[in-house]
Parts: sequence; structure tokens; C-alpha cells
Amino acid sequence: MHELEPLIERGSPDDFLLRQLDPNRLPRHVAIIMDGNGRWANRRGKARIAGHPAGVEAARVTVENCARLGIPTLTLYAFSSENWRRPRVEVTMLMRLLQQCLRQEVPRLNRNGVRLRFIGRLSALSDETRKALDYAVAATANNHRMTLNVAFNYGGRAEIVDALRAVAREFMGLGRPLDSITEEDVARHLYTDSDPDLLIRTSGEMRLSNFLLWQMAYTEIFVTNTLWPDFNRTHLLEALAAYQQRHRRFGGVENVGVPVSALA
Ligand code: IPE
Ligand code: IPE
Ligand code: MG
Repeated sequence: MHELEPLIERGSPDDFLLRQLDPNRLPRHVAIIMDGNGRWANRRGKARIAGHPAGVEAARVTVENCARLGIPTLTLYAFSSENWRRPRVEVTMLMRLLQQCLRQEVPRLNRNGVRLRFIGRLSALSDETRKALDYAVAATANNHRMTLNVAFNYGGRAEIVDALRAVAREFMGLGRPLDSITEEDVARHLYTDSDPDLLIRTSGEMRLSNFLLWQMAYTEIFVTNTLWPDFNRTHLLEALAAYQQRHRRFGGVENVGVPVSALA
């Protein structure tokens, strides 16, 4: 928290929002569906693909802000397994942007203490893309302030299938009955180490679009109409403030403040 504070002008809206936040109750894992790049460009009279470089800039700023706030894990949805359905020029541009970004961003990730990881079926990517990706992951492997998962060629159902295959292989190898597979066994084989506490989706769409289906069973969802390239520090702080207003019950009942003595 204190690392963001000196950057914020006293008395500004961000200063007000930051003061509202309880640093001890920040989400430990934030996931973001970065949506609305195409509409952002169209509204400016440009081709939709012109929105993606602007989206990269918003991602860069958000990564830095989350690291400074002390959020341990950030997962960004960058390319879904369904995004291959887009026009070829757009897919090619997204692949190029990723490669370019990986080359450029390593020093900044290192400065911010960000460890980069990728989740998704990476074997389907070109050798060139995979090489760029392996380089950036290795170059940031020793950073510990924040883990940044980038979901690329990611699909939630595919992830669950991959986990089930791995569990079945493990159990059959050990001669354990498949009937004894538990939720923990499946979770252990997912691409992520933890479940998001907060999901942010930009551009107003109220759907998951195949993102982290297993992990989001109890995630708090925050949808903003802001288009991803416009998403800034203020929007991030607003989402965190909204999260801290939520009452997470996980299917139980809330502690309504009945004194313990009255329960006896
Ligand atoms: C999100 O923006 C970026 C990716 C899916 C790669 P979109 O490209 O989906 O933008 P809209 O939803 O068409 O406005
Ligand atoms: C979800 O956005 C995928 C990413 C942000 C990478 P889409 O724009 O692909 O989702 P739909 O098609 O609107 O559901
Ligand atoms: Mg979209």
C-alpha cells in the first residue's frame, strides 16, 4: 500500500479511494478479463485491431499498480482458446504484440519484482512465440513481490480436461481407484496455484467467457462499463473498494454480531 501512496497526489480522488481501502483486506488474487479493445478503437473511428496496443498499455499500468499495492497474484486474460475464431490479421497482430511485449517488458517486470507465468495450452503456439515466452518466464523467475499469470490460448474447460487427464494418469500409475479422486486432487493439477478473490471484467459484458471456470466458484465479480484501454488506477481502486464492501459467505451464514454468550 505504502508504495503506491507517494505517487498519488494528496486530496485527489485516488488519494480518497486509497484511504478507504483496508490494506489488510485486499484480495490476494485478482483476475481480469481485459475486454473492449475493439469497441474502444471503433469509437475513435479506427479499425478494431488498433485497440490492442492501447490495451497493452493499460495492462502494463495495471500490473505495476497491483504490484505496488501488494496484491500477491494477478491473472490477466489475454487470448482465449476461442479467440482463434477472429480474423487472421487480428490473430497475427495479437501474437506479434505478445512477442514484442515480452521482449520489452522484462526489465520493468524485474524492477517491479513481478514473476511472469503463462497459463493455457502453450504447445499450440508457434516456436517463435514459445521461445519469447520461455525467455521472459525464465528471466523473471526469481522475483517474489507479485506473480503475474497471463492466460494465453487459455480455455477454462480445456484446463479442467487437462487436470482430469493428469489426475487419472497419476491415480492409475499408483494403482489408486478413480472413485477416490477428490476436489483437492483436481485443484492440484490446475494451471493456477490459487483461486481469484476478485474478478474484474471491463466493457460491461456479464459473462465468464470460459475463464477460470473451476477457480471462480466463489470469486467476487466486478463489472465496469469502462473499456479496457481506458482502465486506469482510479478504476482499479474503485474495484478494490467495491470488493471490500462485499460479504463473502461461501454458502454459510454471516456472523451477524450475536454475542457468543447468547449462543450458549
Ligand atoms: C479484448 O478486447 C482483447 C482480446 C480479446 C484479445 P476485444 O478485442 O474483445 O474488444 P471488443 O470486445 O471487441 O470491444
Ligand atoms: C474474453 O473476451 C477473452 C479475453 C479478454 C482475452 P472476448 O471478447 O473474447 O469474449 P466474448 O467473445 O465477448 O465472450
Ligand atoms: Mg471482447
